Amino acid sequence: MEKIVSLCKRRGFIFQSAEIYGGLNGCWDYGPLGAELKRNLKEYWWRCNVQERDDVVGMDGSILTHNSVLVASGHVGGFSDPMCDCLLTKERLRADQVPAQSGTAFWYTGAKSKDGSWSVEKEFAVLVASEEAARDARKTAAKFYVQLAAAGVSAADLELQGERAEAVTDSVRFNPANGSLLTEPREFNLMFKTKIGATSDENDPSAIGWLRPETAQSIFCQYKNILDSSRMKIPFGIAQIGKSFRNEINPRNFTFRSREFEQMEIEYFCRAEDGLKLTDEWLERRLCFYENIGIPREKIHILDVPDGERAFYSKKTYDLEYEFPFGIQELEGIAYRTDYDLGSHQTGSGKSMEYFDEESRERFIPHVVEPSAGCDRTVLAVICEAFDEEELGKDGKSDVRTVMRFHPRMAPIKAAVFPLLKKNEEQVRIAKEIVKELKPWMPVFYDEAGAVGRRYRRQDEVGTPFCITVDFDTLGENGEENKDTVTIRHRDSMEQERVPVKDVLHWLIKRIH
Ligand code: GAP
Repeated sequence: MEKIVSLCKRRGFIFQSAEIYGGLNGCWDYGPLGAELKRNLKEYWWRCNVQERDDVVGMDGSILTHNSVLVASGHVGGFSDPMCDCLLTKERLRADQVPAQSGTAFWYTGAKSKDGSWSVEKEFAVLVASEEAARDARKTAAKFYVQLAAAGVSAADLELQGERAEAVTDSVRFNPANGSLLTEPREFNLMFKTKIGATSDENDPSAIGWLRPETAQSIFCQYKNILDSSRMKIPFGIAQIGKSFRNEINPRNFTFRSREFEQMEIEYFCRAEDGLKLTDEWLERRLCFYENIGIPREKIHILDVPDGERAFYSKKTYDLEYEFPFGIQELEGIAYRTDYDLGSHQTGSGKSMEYFDEESRERFIPHVVEPSAGCDRTVLAVICEAFDEEELGKDGKSDVRTVMRFHPRMAPIKAAVFPLLKKNEEQVRIAKEIVKELKPWMPVFYDEAGAVGRRYRRQDEVGTPFCITVDFDTLGENGEENKDTVTIRHRDSMEQERVPVKDVLHWLIKRIH
C-alpha cells in the first residue's frame, strides 16, 4: 500500500487535504490525474445506470439537509458507531477496529512476587503485538510497557508474563468491553451538524442543519416530485452521485474510510413481491459494472449478510467486497430496504408517499432496492488493481517497469503523442496536429522531452494505454508503405502497430468508450 500511496502523490492522483498545514484527517484532494480518473468512473456509472436505461432517472440533491429529514430517517437518533477511548494513547477508536489496532492483549490479575510465584495484588495487562500487527500496535505496546515499567514491573517480569500469556491466548483474548485498556464502548453520532441562517438561538430546532450522511435521503424526499414530473411507472429508479459526510471516529487506509466522500446510489422502487428478485438482478448488474472498469469478478467477494447482522428493515443485503492490499473490505452494499424509507417519510412529513397503479387501481407504498457504491472506494480499488511492477531486466540486470494497468475506459490520459525527435519540425508539426484533433474528445498528453523509451515509461506509470509516435516513416523517409501512419504502442503488451494518421481518432474512441 505504501508504494501505491507514494505513486498517487508523486504523479498527482491524490493528496492529503491541507497538507501544508499538517493535513486534515479523513479528507483528501484529487490532483489532475485523480480528478480525471474519478470523473471517468462517475461518468461511466451514470451512463450505465441512467443514460442507457429507460427505467432510471437522475437527480442532484442538496448537501445541507433539513433536520426533520434525518429525524424521520432515523439518523439523528441512531446513526452512530460504538467508540472506545484508549486510556494509554488517548486515541479514540471504533470498537470494531480495536483488535487489529492493538494486537493481542492479555489481562492479568496478579503480580510476580520475589520467590517467583504469582499473587493477585495488582492488576495489569500485557499487550503482545504479533508479527503481523500494524506499526501502530507496536507503538501502543511500547507505550504500555513504559507505563508498566513506571508502575514497578520489570522487563524480566514482562517477558515471563509474555510466556504465560501465550498459554492463555484463547481464554483471555483482548476485549475492549472488559475495561482493561479501553473505556467501555459508547455510541458516537457520525453526522456533521451545522446551523443554518443568522439565528441567535443555538437551540432553535428550525436552524439545525446537517451535512448529509448519505445521498439516499434526498431521493426518498423527492420521490413524489420525480414521479409526478417524469411520469415513471413502477418499477423505476432514481440515481444520484454526490458528496456525503461522516465524522468517522478513525479514518484509515488512505481514502478508504474518509470523513468526506462521494457515493453513487440508486433507489429502485418496486412492488413488495419483486424486491428479492430485483436485489439479485442488481447484484449481477453491479458485478458486470466492476468487470467493465477493470476489477475482475474473482477479486470481488459477495457477502450475503446473515439475519441479525442486516439493518432491521432489510430483508436481503449483499455486500460487495474487494481484495484491497489491507484486507477484504466493502465497496458497495445492495440492500432490499422494504418500504421502510418511504414509510418513515410518510409518517415524518404527513405527506402521502403512496403510488397509484392506474392499471390495477391499487395504492401502495413502494418497496425499494438500493445499490449503494462508494466512489472514492471504487477509485481506490481501481488504482490498487491497476498497480503493477514488471521485471523487464536482462542478463542479470534488474529493470522494473512501474505500470498502472487501468482499463482504457478509466485511464486518466487516453493517449500520449510524441514526435520521435523534437528537433524535427515536420514530426513536431504532425504530432501537434494529432493532439489538436484528439483534444476535444479525450485527455491527451504531448511530450517531446528525452528519449522515447523514457517517455513511454513516464506514461506507463500513470496508466496511459496508448502512446502515439510520429517518426521518419510517417514522413515517408523510409519508403511509401508507412507514409502518413504513426506507431501506436500498447501499454500492457508494449507491442506496437502502425495506424494511418487519419484513422487515429476513431481507432482510439473504439477502445476507450
Ligand atoms: N444509503 C446506504 C448507505 O449509505 P453505506 O453502506 O453506509 O450505505 C454505502 O454506504 C457505500 O458508501 C459504502 O459501501 C462505501 O463504499 C461508501 N462509504 C461509506 N462510508 C464511507 C467512508 N467513510 N469513506 C468512504 N466511503 C464510504
